[in-house]
Amino acid sequence: MSDNTEQAAWTPDSWKTKPIKQDVVYDNPEELSTVLTRITNMPPLVSTAEVERLRAQLKDVAEGRAFLLQGGDCAESFDYCNPTAIEDKLKVLLQMSLVLLWGMRQPIVRIARMAGQYAKPRSSPFETVDGKQIMSYRGDNVNSIDPAARRPDPQRLMSAYLHSAATINYVRMLLAGGFADLHRPEAWDLGHVRNPSIRREYQTIVNRLTDSLGFMDVIGATGQSAVSTVNLYTSHEALLLDYEQALTRPVAKASQTQARRGPYEPATPPRNRLAPELCDFYNMSAHFIWIGDRTRQLDGAHVEYFRGVRNPVGVKVGPTMDPAELVRALDILDPLLEPGRVTLITRYGADKIAKYLPAHIEAVMATKHQPVWCCDPCHGNTTTAPSGHKTRSFDAIISEITDSISIHQQLGSRLGGVHLELTGEHVTECTGGSMELSHLDLPSNYQTFCDPRLNYEQSLDIAFKIAKVYETQREESHID
Ligand code: PEP
Ligand code: CO
Repeated sequence: MSDNTEQAAWTPDSWKTKPIKQDVVYDNPEELSTVLTRITNMPPLVSTAEVERLRAQLKDVAEGRAFLLQGGDCAESFDYCNPTAIEDKLKVLLQMSLVLLWGMRQPIVRIARMAGQYAKPRSSPFETVDGKQIMSYRGDNVNSIDPAARRPDPQRLMSAYLHSAATINYVRMLLAGGFADLHRPEAWDLGHVRNPSIRREYQTIVNRLTDSLGFMDVIGATGQSAVSTVNLYTSHEALLLDYEQALTRPVAKASQTQARRGPYEPATPPRNRLAPELCDFYNMSAHFIWIGDRTRQLDGAHVEYFRGVRNPVGVKVGPTMDPAELVRALDILDPLLEPGRVTLITRYGADKIAKYLPAHIEAVMATKHQPVWCCDPCHGNTTTAPSGHKTRSFDAIISEITDSISIHQQLGSRLGGVHLELTGEHVTECTGGSMELSHLDLPSNYQTFCDPRLNYEQSLDIAFKIAKVYETQREESHID
């Protein structure tokens, strides 16, 4: 049974009173503090109105009226902040969401692991390179992938902010300029997907959707928006709490001001004079942030930080999460029992999901919490190929997703979304899929700095497989 015990007062820095995991230790604290002050004075990257819209859409997901697609790189690099990489990522997410929309007959909420996914938790703080022990790569906002530059550099936090800003600016520009308009080919063209059956099925979906949405436009049922533009939200693992705190901004609670109208409503009276209890706090570095599997300790700094922000939040849930601990995490993060406030991103592994997911679902169903259940079929299925490359098999990924769908259904729950590590590029990091990549293909274009990602074609394959599961179920229920 969940127990909603009264919690201590929260402030953007109350996490500092708690034990922290995966912390970064800088050897120049004055420089760190100068950089953080500068970030604190920078403009927000997202608006409160956008965060509120995502909250409403995730409530729809939690209540069964929409499906969540979250995806992107394991570790974003500052170099990925270039037009081609951003367009490719946007394109694969849009195309996948179109296929899912068709299969599920439900709106798809799209959240990119993008514009800030720079910090990485590591299983060991050190690694050995050429016989020398050096600090592990902790992500572009901490140190460099180059073994010669592993010292944590506070200036990289400002770089992270600026690269996030440039990335989100370009995404906004693309979407506002009609990149997602179904009538225009750039985002919807299949490029060099070779598999003829995928090309055929995909084209059928695009044609049918263009026809039906075009018809709705003609009769004025949708205005322009349904065909010509989409929402896309940003997200990252909020690991570096100093950075997250610097972008945490107080905004007068709705009851303290008129209804929030603008894209960013500053607190009135000026925020530095507004009592904290009259404010909501938004993390304005991204629309959605999540806690990783290594930093979700109930009494730890990350859970403390996350409980105070109004953004919807995710929690990674792996085999080491005890069901009672999961309920307690929800009590802390969702004390007001708001559907969709928390997304549980489960990541067990194809061979472990049947053992762990049912107890997690049953424990949550015995409470009044209504989280989004999202399947991350990537992180529990990482293996090492004979060549030494970290990889994942397409079949294991599909198996964890389909098991997740059926376990939820058997227990009267519902899988609300998927969380995938993917890229729009033609990398060779995961095996299988319609291109039938084998272990031998991995070295040909292996680029990731961290975990292996599904490539463009494999990502679309996944979307088709998920869509097929739901289409088949619909057909069977019509037959019954
Ligand atoms: C990740 O999402 O890249 C990650 C590190 O996942 P997890 O916390 O689930 O291991
Ligand atoms: Co990863």
